[in-house]
Amino acid sequence: MSEIVFNIIEKEEQRQKEMVGLIPSENHISPEVRKALGSVLSSKYSEGYPGRRYYEGNQFIDEIENLARDRVKKLLGVPYVNVQPYSGSPANSAIYFAILEPGETIMGLKLAMGGHLTHGHPQVTFSGRYYNSVQYGVDKEARIDFAGLRKLAHEHKPKVIVAGNTAYPFELDFKAFREIADEVGAWLMADISHITGLVVAGEHPSPVPYADIIMTTTHKTFRGPRGAMILVTERGLERDPDLGKKIDASIIPGLQGGPHNATTAGIAIAAAEAMRPEFKNYAKQICRNADALAGRLMEHGLKLVGDGTETHLMVVDLTSYGDGFGTQVAYAMDVAGIYANRNTIPNEPCSPFYPSGLRLGTPLVTTRGMKEEEMVQIADWIFRVIEHIKEEQLPTDKKKWGKFIKDFKKRADQDTELQKIRTEVKVMAERFPLFRW
Ligand SMILES: Cc1ncc(COP(=O)(O)O)c(C=O)c1O
Repeated sequence: MSEIVFNIIEKEEQRQKEMVGLIPSENHISPEVRKALGSVLSSKYSEGYPGRRYYEGNQFIDEIENLARDRVKKLLGVPYVNVQPYSGSPANSAIYFAILEPGETIMGLKLAMGGHLTHGHPQVTFSGRYYNSVQYGVDKEARIDFAGLRKLAHEHKPKVIVAGNTAYPFELDFKAFREIADEVGAWLMADISHITGLVVAGEHPSPVPYADIIMTTTHKTFRGPRGAMILVTERGLERDPDLGKKIDASIIPGLQGGPHNATTAGIAIAAAEAMRPEFKNYAKQICRNADALAGRLMEHGLKLVGDGTETHLMVVDLTSYGDGFGTQVAYAMDVAGIYANRNTIPNEPCSPFYPSGLRLGTPLVTTRGMKEEEMVQIADWIFRVIEHIKEEQLPTDKKKWGKFIKDFKKRADQDTELQKIRTEVKVMAERFPLFRW
């Protein structure tokens, strides 16, 4: 019966090999991290922390967790780390649980402007419903509107300000966030999930001198297993010497049970990999590739949110083709062998389900060894897809959107031009292994 599952896994591997991945939050892990994930560590229960577990038989799990923590502390220059969060969303919840009471105020970047659901998105999320969420935005240049943020902070006196991004193409100015947090006595929490690989390689300013608490997923530019970690800085410990203990307690017993030990081992390996000089080159190339991709898309006349990128990601603003065109473009690109995701743009004129943007990033293709030359080629394919389907606009009657998309997908699946591009993409993609140093 396991063959059925392994057959599907093989198909997924083939899909990844013959397509080009541009989802900025994904990465291909090293063979060593993969090996750790499939190891016997998965079979062990170890609720608690090294030296104080609720289960016996954790001598080697303790060694692994201590190693992971020590390596991450060294890599990022922080005195405290917890490597047990199951993923980024529970990690953010654990931080809030440690420092906030229900109903207290949190401030994060609006989802439609590049923030994450867990940064206080109203109504539908835990962070938006259990806390009083006040959200800041971006200005006309699509940069964080610090004047607006300051005004809101003075008005609402948040307990925590979240500096983090999931679809924001520019560097985060942690110093500016710190100044505002100090003015109102707020904690500064940095969610660097997207940019950790860039931060450790010196390609993005570090939040460590400015933030009190840092959260990062481990599977994005950091290129480790799916997981997350919470760091507390010297500054955070100065303000509350018990902050680390509070975070530990909020993970277990607060929110979680046993840690995923295979993931912990993967984090220990990824942290060592991130210390290698090759990782620095990798992070540099991520940014070079993003510049090359963005540059070529703009040469084709495509508009990027904020007119460019300073990181690994960019958001294409498709409104010149038509509002709510992101779904069609992302789907047609997938048929043509290039997978990315539709995304809202700042001041989205359509809706989150039918957004007008497309989010693109270069961590996946850079891990495979692709360089600027391939980025230019990929941008040309994306432009060809967009031009090819440009007549496929949402009908004016909103009630017809669902049916239109369903029919559009059928048309796209049969489309010979998209199939032709797919064949070209495959020839190029298969020249590159999934992971290359
Ligand atoms: C900035 C940021 N924070 C948190 C998360 C949540 O991580 P996860 O999907 O692992 O729960 C993400 C994931 O996209 C993210 O981009």
